[in-house]
Amino acid sequence: MSFKLGGVTTQLSSADAERLRRRWDARQEPFLPHRDEAFAVLADAAVGRRALDLAGGPGSIASRLVNAEVTVLDVDPVLLAIARAALGDRVAVVSADLGAPGWGVGREFDAVVAGTALHCFGPDRLRALYGEIHDVLAPGGVFANADRMPDAPPTAPVDGLAGWHEWWAEALTHPTLAAAARDRADGESADFYPPASWHVDALRAAGFGEVAVRWRRDDTAVVVARRTS
Ligand SMILES: C[S@@+](CC[C@H](N)C(=O)[O-])C[C@H]1O[C@@H](n2cnc3c(N)ncnc32)[C@H](O)[C@@H]1O
Repeated sequence: MSFKLGGVTTQLSSADAERLRRRWDARQEPFLPHRDEAFAVLADAAVGRRALDLAGGPGSIASRLVNAEVTVLDVDPVLLAIARAALGDRVAVVSADLGAPGWGVGREFDAVVAGTALHCFGPDRLRALYGEIHDVLAPGGVFANADRMPDAPPTAPVDGLAGWHEWWAEALTHPTLAAAARDRADGESADFYPPASWHVDALRAAGFGEVAVRWRRDDTAVVVARRTS
């Protein structure tokens, strides 16, 4: 498959992209333990025809939303190229930076999902982002976020960085992805991991009418919020 992303013509077979995406999933598990279960909860919450996978990376959550028209939004051209090639025309990919307002894609959604991603933003930006997510949802639409939401500060650092670096080294041996990587911007993660109660309060303050912790296992939780007006 050949397509244009960020000014680069991308040629990446769907088989290569799918293999990289599956390895990505394995490498991400230390960053979000019980990832598979958490993403199943996200997919279950994402009812409706039009779904947005926010900071969706290579499309791991999007791949589960089989009955929806899915848009994958991310800032990373390498990950978007993999999503596009792995999932084909079934998904739209959008390059946008969630670090500031104005990332909306000019249409509304019935469901917005995010997984292992919104910890990249600090408290002020995340509160504002929750308001922006509220505004891109149709009335009655649902937002679901899966992340580490520990009730107490973690006692040990996450041990997944070596695998993460290996994954990137492997991905960038592919010429297409190496070319896409030229457009990557250096972004720092805020590594902000408040408890689920913080997310519930911030979502209510952002205007969501119904907010609940839908699922939890150890420090991994899924918070679901509905736009009611
Ligand atoms: C740990 S990855 C998770 C990706 C995917 N949701 C998953 O679980 O496989 C975090 C994602 O957030 C994206 N991201 C980080 N900062 C971003 C920003 N400012 N705007 C859009 N996406 C961002 C990264 O590019 C990356 O794809």
